[in-house]
Amino acid sequence: MDTNKNKLFDSYGRQIRDLRISLTDRCNFRCFYCLPNGEPPLARKDTILTFEEIYKISKIFVSLGIEKIRLTGGEPMLRRDIETLIEKIASLKAENSNNHQLKDLALTTNGFSIPEKAQKLKDLGLDRLTLSLDSLKPAKFKEITGKDELENVLNSIKTAKKASLDPIKINAVIVRGVNDEEIVDFAKFAREYDISMRFIEFMPLDSGHDWKREKVVSGKEIQEKINEVFPLELKQKSRGAETAWNYKFADTDKGEIGIIAPVTEMFCGACSRIRLTADGQIRTCLFSDTEHNLRDVLRSGTNDKEIIEFIKQVVLKKEASHQINKEDFIQPSRTMSFIGG
Ligand code: 5AD
Ligand code: SF4
Repeated sequence: MDTNKNKLFDSYGRQIRDLRISLTDRCNFRCFYCLPNGEPPLARKDTILTFEEIYKISKIFVSLGIEKIRLTGGEPMLRRDIETLIEKIASLKAENSNNHQLKDLALTTNGFSIPEKAQKLKDLGLDRLTLSLDSLKPAKFKEITGKDELENVLNSIKTAKKASLDPIKINAVIVRGVNDEEIVDFAKFAREYDISMRFIEFMPLDSGHDWKREKVVSGKEIQEKINEVFPLELKQKSRGAETAWNYKFADTDKGEIGIIAPVTEMFCGACSRIRLTADGQIRTCLFSDTEHNLRDVLRSGTNDKEIIEFIKQVVLKKEASHQINKEDFIQPSRTMSFIGG
């Protein structure tokens, strides 16, 4: 029997195990590295996938070996009744399909509405949360996100911890001249809160098209800055399909540092990810210049077998890598808020 028949492989032999689903391209924050001007949403109500459609697609993907599903946006918590969807998708962890099962359900959020929702999400089957936190100073936080919400986001980290939505990961996009002087403060924060603090290089995915190479603070520089104050020990020998190099602090088991360097240290070679936009387009890479319309296939009333065939064909078109460092790189027209982190 062909054991690979029910798995997704791209043309470079990479197995796809990780699906990121954007639930909406709307957001109530205006992070300058993502959606600074609050462009009107691209997806219309009738083009946005319904929860039934998202569940159906998730189920099919799990039967093809997807083990991790991450719900993103925009801000996914803006989707009304997201709890129902989480409960449905979480049920795939208990279902066996072609000998595959969902193993991990995560959510990326700006944290805005987490304080009152964390425990409920956990109870419904969400495993873990990733939150954005780009400054520890109230005024700077407001400058970066357009919202005076630092206190609320810190509170959401505390409640998520209490609800055991772990390992909780905190993302900080480090941008030269904006928040690079807070790198060590973030490391301290990781130790104090006993959480994983992930530093992400600024990528050309901002709707303001303000990205410049000079604004990228390299993962290496970030690692060195922290290491000078808090000596670090690398946790893993190889990165595998992970995007981050993870470090522990030499003097304590509390807290963790992740360095995500898509610009200066490309990690596409082991990529296991695929993305679905809120309006049902498959993107095989964050930086793809084409999309594959799964929504139309789904809505044309075809059977699961044909949907599976479509997905397999799309996966075969996954790019070898992104082209950020090529001379002729063109920034994708869709921003992170649309594609989903
Ligand atoms: N560069 C790097 N990371 C980004 N994110 C959003 N826009 C960018 C960008 N231009 C990350 C944020 C957020 C996640 C969804 O995507 O860290 O937490
Ligand atoms: Fe919203 Fe997240 Fe984009 Fe910030 S990074 S504007 S919180 S989607």
